[in-house]
Amino acid sequence: MRVGVLTGGGDCPGLNAVIRAIVRKGVPNYDYKFVGFRDGWRGVLEDLTMPLDIPAVRGLLPRGGTILGTSRTNPFAIEDGVQRIKQTLVNLGIDALIAIGGDDTLGVAAKLFEEGVHVVGVPKTIDNDLAGTDYTFGFDTAVSIATEAIDRLHTTAESHHRALIVEVMGRHAGWIALHSGVAGGANVILIPEVPFDVDQVCKWVDSRFRLHYAPIIVVAEGAQAKGGELVVNTDDRDQFGHVRLGGIGERLANEIEKHTGKEARTTVLGHAQRGGTPTARDRWLATRFGLHAVDAVHDEAWGSMVALRGTDIHHVPLAEAVGELRTVDPELYAEAEVFFG
Ligand code: F6P
Repeated sequence: MRVGVLTGGGDCPGLNAVIRAIVRKGVPNYDYKFVGFRDGWRGVLEDLTMPLDIPAVRGLLPRGGTILGTSRTNPFAIEDGVQRIKQTLVNLGIDALIAIGGDDTLGVAAKLFEEGVHVVGVPKTIDNDLAGTDYTFGFDTAVSIATEAIDRLHTTAESHHRALIVEVMGRHAGWIALHSGVAGGANVILIPEVPFDVDQVCKWVDSRFRLHYAPIIVVAEGAQAKGGELVVNTDDRDQFGHVRLGGIGERLANEIEKHTGKEARTTVLGHAQRGGTPTARDRWLATRFGLHAVDAVHDEAWGSMVALRGTDIHHVPLAEAVGELRTVDPELYAEAEVFFG
């Protein structure tokens, strides 16, 4: 059997570990031949491939990024896109496709499955906002990087008696902000799911200064003030209709300075959260997802996605995973409020 593999959407620590596990199990156990598609769905549209055999995946486990490359190409936003995808698969004699991606990439996979393509999905996103799985790989690495940044910012904030704002990724879901904020002892955590009150944030900042500590505020890029709107970097949209977020941290710093008279500065962690080597936990999860994705191909579980439930890996319908985002429950967020201010 010939099996295509692609990685789509934003890159994520652990992608290479998935690819490695797929090949390391698929070749000896099932005698599969693998074809790597470059740059996500673009590779299938444009017939851009690379060999994917055991020598090609040596040394990949700790390496960040994806050797296949990635893109935010959406075949459903391109004329004849679906037809071209099907044609490439026929031309190359591909019997099955393993798509590793987030909501957008797997949304395409779900629709292609309805069009008769033999596809299996692997969930990936540092944002951890995919439904159907308890965790996605990449999230733990992003949280570790953000936590280390918060730890470091505490000492410089205190030395300068400043409020420091840390803007982390999280378009629709505040998982990175919540986990790193709690782990790093932030004094305020702001997430997209719960619009914030600027006056309240300033009160927390003030009270922190009164205790002779400098406040650290962690804000997800998708967080919004009550009655406010998303802060975008540019109005340009990608092929899935997403605007580029960024700037809420700076805006908040201005408000804090205006209302409290204290100096406030912003650190935007940006793509540093997605780069570099995955944590041990992400390597473990990514490896298990890869192993089970090959088994799903062997079982002809087309239209399914591997998912972590507790400590077990299950197959869930792709449609279920991409239907709705997994966001932070406001009650879980409320637990952290005891540390605010
Ligand atoms: O992968 C999701 C994500 O991390 C979002 O949190 C963020 O908005 C987006 O990627 C930014 O990615 P890029 O800069 O690659 O478009």
